[in-house]
Amino acid sequence: MLQLATSFGVLLAFVSFAAAQSAVWGQCGGIGWTGATTCVSGSVCTYQNDYYSQCLPSTASATSVGTSTTSGTTSTVATTSTSSAPASTANIGLNVAAKAAGKLYLGSATDNPELTDTAYVAILSDSTEFGQITPGNSMKWDATEPSQGTFSFAGGDTVVNLAKANGQLVRGHNCVWHNQLPSWVSSGNFNATALASIVETHCSTIVSHWKGQMYSWDVINEPFNDDGTWRTDVFYNTLNTTYVSIALKAARAADPAAKLYINDYNIEGSGAKATAMLNLVKQLQADGVPIDGVGFQGHFIVGALPSTIQANLEAFTALGIEVAITELDIRMTLPATDALLAQQKKDYQTVISACKAVTGCIGVTIWDYTDKYSWVPSTFSGQGAACPWDANLLRKPAYDGIVAGFQS
Ligand code: XIL
Repeated sequence: MLQLATSFGVLLAFVSFAAAQSAVWGQCGGIGWTGATTCVSGSVCTYQNDYYSQCLPSTASATSVGTSTTSGTTSTVATTSTSSAPASTANIGLNVAAKAAGKLYLGSATDNPELTDTAYVAILSDSTEFGQITPGNSMKWDATEPSQGTFSFAGGDTVVNLAKANGQLVRGHNCVWHNQLPSWVSSGNFNATALASIVETHCSTIVSHWKGQMYSWDVINEPFNDDGTWRTDVFYNTLNTTYVSIALKAARAADPAAKLYINDYNIEGSGAKATAMLNLVKQLQADGVPIDGVGFQGHFIVGALPSTIQANLEAFTALGIEVAITELDIRMTLPATDALLAQQKKDYQTVISACKAVTGCIGVTIWDYTDKYSWVPSTFSGQGAACPWDANLLRKPAYDGIVAGFQS
């Protein structure tokens, strides 16, 4: 703690004080900065680098040092920035940068339990950073229709209302997915007629509920295996591929203004799975089934991006549909090092510039902006630090990579 207090005192010493006050997350110092150098109550002007000091909520800045001493051994907290580690230097909001590059939005996923974290919500609600929100869980089948015919919209409503208050778009996520599917659906032993009706009712009901409020819906999520064959979930096993058109038609009827997407992972670069998705889109178009976009989740590993992202996105937009990166994060094996964070910055830039280069790539969503709430550590053992803000809500070099991607 002594070390914490000392470091913090040193950070404060870098900033000078003047009369006006900067808002939380605003700039409050740095070489060439002529604006306010003090922060509103509840936030502290915190040195990030010689060119940039930022007003951070007092709780976030007080824990922003990435080493801790326990029982005499010092350990680095892998997902935090330290005063010696590289930090973000860009001074432009991600959504501002996205729009300047001709995109509709740069967005973030969120989840309802996180919305009690006021420092987290303050950044999420900043529409210069995020122009779009995706609910990470609260519109999924287990949340919206936990038992047959009993619908629950409260969690989704909370996210939609937050986005509305912030002037942000919403991507609905999702209608039909093999995961987070209640057992009444997956183990109900329904025949084709019954399951078709269940899919239609589910999609129709949830899409209707938020009619006119959604930019888009992931109507179908993850229909393919990695080798491009169809995933043999209850929908495919019972209805063959017809569940896709049943769901898309129900969604179109329920909200004609919402863009209807199919969303998947490992389709970002060309390959068997991307080809299967291309062929599905072509088939749907030939059959007159509504399809407006394909979502590329973008759950990547640092240093291991596919090399064909731009060409692959172009293959999809050539079909006359739009595309979006819908769940971007770039994970690493922990602990995070300066070298990994530098490579992660490059990788974020590469993905963003691929989207920028493709006119029909309309936006990018990060699968939550901070390591504090990333799904990665609990899903991929030993991995994490995948997001552009660290677990203390401080911006990482990846943030600058995103800005550079939009400005390239
Ligand atoms: C994840 C959520 O972020 C987690 O909170 C949840 O426990 C599991 O699902 N692909 C998707 C998302 O389409 O819905 C997943 O979200 C991540 C992978």
